[in-house]
Amino acid sequence: MDQTVRCMSKRFYLTTAIDYVNGQPHLGHAYEKIITDVMARAQRSAGAEVFFLTGADEHGQKVQQAAHAEGKAAQEYCDGLAATWQAFVARLDVTNDDYVRTTQPRHKEVVQAILSKLYVEGQFYKAPYRGFYSTKEETFLTEKDRRPDGNFDPSYGDVVELVEENYYFKLKDHQQWLIDYIESHPDFIFPENRKNEVLGFLKNNTLEDLCISRPSSRLSWGIPLPFDPTYVTYVWFDALSNYVTLPAALGDPLLCKALGCGAGKLAGPELWPADKQVIGKDIVKFHAVYWPIMLKAMGVPLPKQLVVHGWWQKDGQKMSKSTGNVVDPMAVVNEWGVDAFRYYVVRELAIGPDGNWTDAGFSARYHAELANGLGNLLNRSLSMLNRYRKGVVPQPSSELAKDAEKAAAESWAAIEKNELQDALVSIWGLVNRANQYVDQTAPFKMAKDPAQSARLDEVLYNLAESCRILAVLLWPFIPGTSARIYAQLNLKTTPDKRTEAQWGGLVAGHVIGSPEALFPRRDQPAAAK
Ligand code: MSP
Repeated sequence: MDQTVRCMSKRFYLTTAIDYVNGQPHLGHAYEKIITDVMARAQRSAGAEVFFLTGADEHGQKVQQAAHAEGKAAQEYCDGLAATWQAFVARLDVTNDDYVRTTQPRHKEVVQAILSKLYVEGQFYKAPYRGFYSTKEETFLTEKDRRPDGNFDPSYGDVVELVEENYYFKLKDHQQWLIDYIESHPDFIFPENRKNEVLGFLKNNTLEDLCISRPSSRLSWGIPLPFDPTYVTYVWFDALSNYVTLPAALGDPLLCKALGCGAGKLAGPELWPADKQVIGKDIVKFHAVYWPIMLKAMGVPLPKQLVVHGWWQKDGQKMSKSTGNVVDPMAVVNEWGVDAFRYYVVRELAIGPDGNWTDAGFSARYHAELANGLGNLLNRSLSMLNRYRKGVVPQPSSELAKDAEKAAAESWAAIEKNELQDALVSIWGLVNRANQYVDQTAPFKMAKDPAQSARLDEVLYNLAESCRILAVLLWPFIPGTSARIYAQLNLKTTPDKRTEAQWGGLVAGHVIGSPEALFPRRDQPAAAK
């Protein structure tokens, strides 16, 4: 009856990769969630209804082995880890709407429905497989994975030769279709160079069919194949499916119809197709080759865009627990605050290339851009308004309105294009302009000259209003700081709507609060005793 109403309510659906739980959450995991959160918050701030999904990838050999080593049942082991990972996500101020775990019944049921459907439709076949298998990577290796000296890279861990019967998913037949699809949908893979890599791969290689099972005698920690319970689902088929299993379990009408599951619950939120699926560069092949073909076979449309980010290194080297060369996001957040961390990772690295974390670089940005830039602007703007006008906002003046409009327009345009780093650069255009305005107009001098009282009113208004608008523009990036700016301006609302970035929001006569340092400096030597 209310079909039309539902048609109009497709939500903006964003996903991240789901993390392997049997490791410590690190900078790379944090980064992916933060950039996706910035996109999610930006969309909400523009008025969209958003659904943001992240989660945990809990099946597989490594988890089974690790649980065994700790003398725990695999589920119990995963429950403990998932709690840690969820706390990690929450600590980053990430606003995911749900958290999917591949061991949840709601996920497993839909995976089985997908497998049954594809099996009935003849998409799978059984064949022997012989190969070199890396237990660490949970994958069969190919000749191409050998180093020039003939050995497999030690990063693959133990490599054993295996022959076993398995089920395969027919990929080959779809190769040309996928090439055509990617070429006719230039925005499907972002950034451009990743799209070209995928096309190059597809044009120069013949796709091998994808092995989707493991014998349960070797691996029991997985989802049983509904048509042959002596096998479990191979981790990638299981893991990739999460992007549709969760919406289907919630009753997404498109998915429920296509997958023939969840009958009777068609009234759930309309999520699929995903608007953005954010992943790291190492898992592009799974998402840009296997995943689209899986969806095509399911009879489900493809996501609108895959957003592929680069990898972080530390001090120019791969992060590695064994050498101790890691960035512990929680330690940084506890020491410097969550917004300093969120700001740094987005400002330092555009979505696409690889990045390099250095502690010195972090501290330099913190002091120059957050403490001296934004923090100082707010502090002096509010202090002067308190000192010279008892905190009472003067009549509106629009000297900096154009600069504020420019920062807003540029930053929103950049966010739409996944250029989050550029968005911050544009916003800092306003921070720097307003700080420069203080230096140029020198309100502290004007305050001594009663003849300049009207001019001082103008300057004080422009500064306070710029700070207010900055809070709105910064909401997707550093929401805690935005809220603090609003609180110091004594505004009772949350700066979470783009429409509030219109110049003139502060009204004459409003009384602001008192300033408090947003980002205390931390590089001053301790006072001499
Ligand atoms: N479980 C699979 C993904 C399945 S998605 C259906 C997996 N998990 S992971 O924990 O290894 O990685 C999760 C995400 O973190 C991936 O997108 C990966 O690229 C990203 N990162 C892992 N290390 C990273 C860096 N050093 N830097 C940036 N991101 C990195 O793969």
